[in-house]
Amino acid sequence: MIPITRVFEAVVCTAFYAGVCYMLFDGAARKLRTSPLLMPPPPKLVLVTAVHDQPCTYPRGDYLNYISVLNKQDYARLHGYKCMAPSELADPRLKFMWNKVAWLLQAMNDFPDAEWYLWIDSDTIIIDVSFTLPFWNYAGKDLVIWGNETKMLQGDGRHGMNSGVMLFRNTRWSREFLEGIAEIGLIPEPFLGQRLREQLTAPGYDYDPGLRDQNAIVYTLKKEWARHHQHVLTISKQYCMNCYWRDLLELGDLRSDESRVHFINHFSGCQMCTEQNKNSDYKECETEFVKSFEYANSIMMKMLARKPARNLTNHEQLAALPYCRANPTSRECRPSVNAVQMAAEGLVMDERGRLTGATIQPPHALFVGMLWGL
Ligand SMILES: *[C@@H]1O[C@H](CO)[C@@H](O)[C@H](O)[C@H]1NC(C)=O
Ligand SMILES: *[C@@H]1O[C@H](CO)[C@@H](O)[C@H](O)[C@H]1NC(C)=O
Repeated sequence: MIPITRVFEAVVCTAFYAGVCYMLFDGAARKLRTSPLLMPPPPKLVLVTAVHDQPCTYPRGDYLNYISVLNKQDYARLHGYKCMAPSELADPRLKFMWNKVAWLLQAMNDFPDAEWYLWIDSDTIIIDVSFTLPFWNYAGKDLVIWGNETKMLQGDGRHGMNSGVMLFRNTRWSREFLEGIAEIGLIPEPFLGQRLREQLTAPGYDYDPGLRDQNAIVYTLKKEWARHHQHVLTISKQYCMNCYWRDLLELGDLRSDESRVHFINHFSGCQMCTEQNKNSDYKECETEFVKSFEYANSIMMKMLARKPARNLTNHEQLAALPYCRANPTSRECRPSVNAVQMAAEGLVMDERGRLTGATIQPPHALFVGMLWGL
């Protein structure tokens, strides 16, 4: 029997596609934010994320990285963006969080025709999967970040801005800015700290070497604000590009409402590769991370049902993750590992990397399938 919701969805969605479906899918009786008919086509955007180049010391860490990548790839697929999710260093000299600067520069080389590059840390989950950034509001801006300009200009490396999610426009300014940050990343400690402390002088902020690239960005912006300010837009309300997971936990609800969009849930402080949490109990943040993924994924799977299957590039990235290298036959990894192997053997594969007759079933598709079956 075809469930009633499914019939309704088919009728509504052939007419209007995304917006109306989102309302149904979301389960959140939310006002329609945008009609897709009025929206411009998606910008050429490359979503860039990266996971540790070494297998995690915490056994579940690789799996947690895997679901993080899956969440980014699916979001990109849903909105017609490209996605890079490497698990190696782009530049062996730029380790740890500096790796993101190196990969952003690499993305600019690999996709020179893109309009935007969106960096998203791996300790995040995109939870409002239907939301897209309002690019038309960013005219003249080259860098869009979550932050507080006052604190940034005081030199607060922690609250001035958050480098966990950053949107760069493909311009010369962006490239030169990132090259400048990469150069700072090459300075060894303690010299690096000595230099950054000159600018990181906000009351109550002591230079924290753990904040690596973020310190360097606040340092650079503060030092040369006159030169940079016209290029930078700081966002601090309406849509949180960087919701702090504890705030959402206290709120008790991951869903967005009409006054505020919970776009990305950021598990700052939670180190899932090493089972550590700088601020409090580790287990709690892991549990919330998985919950966020499952919440987002259950919505994503319904929305992606009408989209083409994951493409070969994405399969290759998934299959190359430490988790899939170690668990090639796991339910999550098998489709990607098989797709890559078939391509290598020159077997039948359509241009999107689909296996003949098979749709790729990411994890939890089963759960969603059960819901549809009700
Ligand atoms: C698959 O994804 C990659 C990277 O995002 C992109 O370069 C490529 O064009 C995509 N292929 C297809 C057929 O969509
Ligand atoms: C930004 O920081 C300043 C200084 O700490 C504070 O007064 C202001 O309320 C903050 N703005 C927002 C939007 O949080």
